[in-house]
Amino acid sequence: MAGAQTSGNYEPQRGQAGKDVIWIPSPDEVVNRMLQMAEVKASDRVFDLGSGDGKIAIAAGRNYGARSTGLEFNPDMVQLSNRLAKEAGVADKVNFRQADIFVADFSSATVVTMYLLPELNLRLRPKLFTMPPGTRVVSHSFTMGDWQPDETARAGTGEVFLWRIPANASGQWKLTAPGVAEAGLRFSQKYQMLEGDAEFGPLRASIVQPRLSGDVLRFQVRDPSGVVLSFDGKVAGNRITGTVSRPGQAATPFQATREGEPSPIAERAPDPAELSSASLAASLAR
Ligand SMILES: C[S@@+](CC[C@H](N)C(=O)[O-])C[C@H]1O[C@@H](n2cnc3c(N)ncnc32)[C@H](O)[C@@H]1O
Repeated sequence: MAGAQTSGNYEPQRGQAGKDVIWIPSPDEVVNRMLQMAEVKASDRVFDLGSGDGKIAIAAGRNYGARSTGLEFNPDMVQLSNRLAKEAGVADKVNFRQADIFVADFSSATVVTMYLLPELNLRLRPKLFTMPPGTRVVSHSFTMGDWQPDETARAGTGEVFLWRIPANASGQWKLTAPGVAEAGLRFSQKYQMLEGDAEFGPLRASIVQPRLSGDVLRFQVRDPSGVVLSFDGKVAGNRITGTVSRPGQAATPFQATREGEPSPIAERAPDPAELSSASLAASLAR
C-alpha cells in the first residue's frame, strides 16, 4: 500500500486506472437522483461499490442521515474519502474501506449504489439476488443485462437505473380468504416479472397485472362469479398475507401458502468454494 502515506495532499486524476474500472466521479445531479430514487432514509445502510472520492456515501450520510460505507480498491482514494467524510462532518456515520467489491461482504446493505461497467454489474448480479427482498440497487450509466430496471431517469448527462430485489413468489400457492372460493394460484417468475393463473375448481383464469416490488405483491383475478378481486399482499417465505377487495366493498384479509418449492428467479450465486476453485483453474490456465 505504498501510495497510502501520500494521501494528505493526494489529488486523484479523472480517468485514472482502477482495479476493474477507471475513476470518474458521478456528477452531483446524478448522485442526488440516485439517492432520491433509492428513497434513502436515516435507517438505511448504504454501500457504494467502488466509491472513488466517496461522494455518494458522503451525500447519503450528509443529506439523508444514512449510515454508509464506500468500498474502494485504491488505498489513496480510501484515505482521501475518509478525510473528506471528516471534513463534511459525517465521519460518525460514513466510512470507507479498502476492499475488492467482488470479495467484500456488503450483505448488510439496504441500498447498494454503483458506477462501474455493464460486465461488472453482471458479475455482481447473482450476489445481489441473495440480498433481502426490497433491497434497492441503483446504478449510474449501466444496466444489468436482461434484468429490467424498476425505474429509470436521465439526470443531466447521466442515466440512473433502480432495481428492487424481488421476493420469490414462484410456484404453486393455496389461497384462503373469507368469502372467496378456495383457489390455487400459480406464478412463474423471472427477476421481478410475474405471470400466473388461478384455479377455482374446474375454472382456470389468468392472473391479471401481477406486480412485484420487493416483497409487495399486487394482482387481480376474476372469480367464478365474474367479479374482479384485487389482491394487495406481502410475500414472506412460503406465505403471502394481505387484503383482497371487490369493487365498492371494504378490503378483507387473505392468506396464501406455498405448496412445494419455489423455482430460481435469477442465476445462482456461486458459492465461495466454487469461486476459489474457479480462480485456481483460471490462474493455472494462465
Ligand atoms: C467510475 S468510479 C465511481 C466512483 C464513485 N462510485 C462515483 O460514482 O463517484 C469507479 C471506482 O471503482 C474503483 N474500483 C475499480 N475496481 C474495483 C474493485 N474491484 N473493487 C473496489 N473498487 C474498485 C475505482 O478505483 C474507481 O474509484
